Amino acid sequence: MECFRMLTIPVIGKNCVLEKGELLGGAGKRAAVITGKFSAVASGALDDIRAVLEKFDISYTVIAKAENNPHLENVAVIAKEAKEAGADHIIGIGGGSAMDAAKAAAVLCTNDISPDMLFKDSIKADPLPVYAIPTTAGTGSEVTPYSVLTVKGKETKLSFGDNRMFPRVAFLDHRYTRTMGRATTVDTAFDAFSHAFEGYISKRATRTAGILAIESMKIFFASLPELYGECISEKVREELLYASMLAGMVISQTGTTALHSMGYALTYNKGIPHGRANGLLFCAYYMELMKENRRKLEELTKKLGLGEVEEPMEKIKKLFPEKLDLGMEEKEKYVEDTLKQKSLAYTPAKLDHDTILRIFENKGK
Ligand SMILES: [Fe+2]
Repeated sequence: MECFRMLTIPVIGKNCVLEKGELLGGAGKRAAVITGKFSAVASGALDDIRAVLEKFDISYTVIAKAENNPHLENVAVIAKEAKEAGADHIIGIGGGSAMDAAKAAAVLCTNDISPDMLFKDSIKADPLPVYAIPTTAGTGSEVTPYSVLTVKGKETKLSFGDNRMFPRVAFLDHRYTRTMGRATTVDTAFDAFSHAFEGYISKRATRTAGILAIESMKIFFASLPELYGECISEKVREELLYASMLAGMVISQTGTTALHSMGYALTYNKGIPHGRANGLLFCAYYMELMKENRRKLEELTKKLGLGEVEEPMEKIKKLFPEKLDLGMEEKEKYVEDTLKQKSLAYTPAKLDHDTILRIFENKGK
């Protein structure tokens, strides 16, 4: 049996917030607009949302407090402000951090629980409706039911999800992603690629998700010539945002695999941006996958219009040429942390201590 879960209406294209603003019209009477510090304003997305909310006579409070890789205390503060403001719906504008904080706040506004309970299946009441506007092209959070938060006690990032957390509408206007510099564009593009790739090879892969994953990965490889350089065209930004949305739809079905779990260790402990962390580990991960899945990866390479099975590694190595340099103690700790992650069960390879250690040793480079 296969089921495709997707409860978000994606609206895609230039000016979509202003032109399809009526989709927000029935959202409620009072919005909490949750953003980070920079991109919502700089991209023009916040101005567009203000215009729509005013047009439909919806009052609002802007809470520009979502931090990068938001931790539980951060979402608790945001939720408290949204609740005090009497919000009946939430609009999240920004990268994955702002949208994930918005989703978590939507849950905390209606469920009287401490933030650490979010990971314990304790969402009883329906969260406030969420509307999402991405300003990066990578997370796919605008079309997923997940929120990924930093958990200090566990020293990593953890995700939780619920079908009721799918944003009602995702407004995807690639012009909002123009504020990203090259490094963030590359890192987030790789995050989207890793969602599509991991969803494709996951033990939870589905036929429909596979079709979306292939399309998303094709766009990533077609965009590489510009991602290698300094200048990203408007056309490529548009394509990358689309690819990121497709990859988000993929992980809504499949979740991610061990690559994400390993990447989280680097983000939490070393501050390496999420997509880059995955990119730095990708080649070694791919080499381990090839041992048991060579035929599947050959098939994938063919479908992507690439040559040899090693070609994805070569291309990605060129995007992230730097080598990880971790001390033995660090590596051992990250291996132990990774071994506790449930995503290992969905990874189509036997990932024991030595295998994971080899990946952190970056044997693919
Ligand atoms: Fe990701």
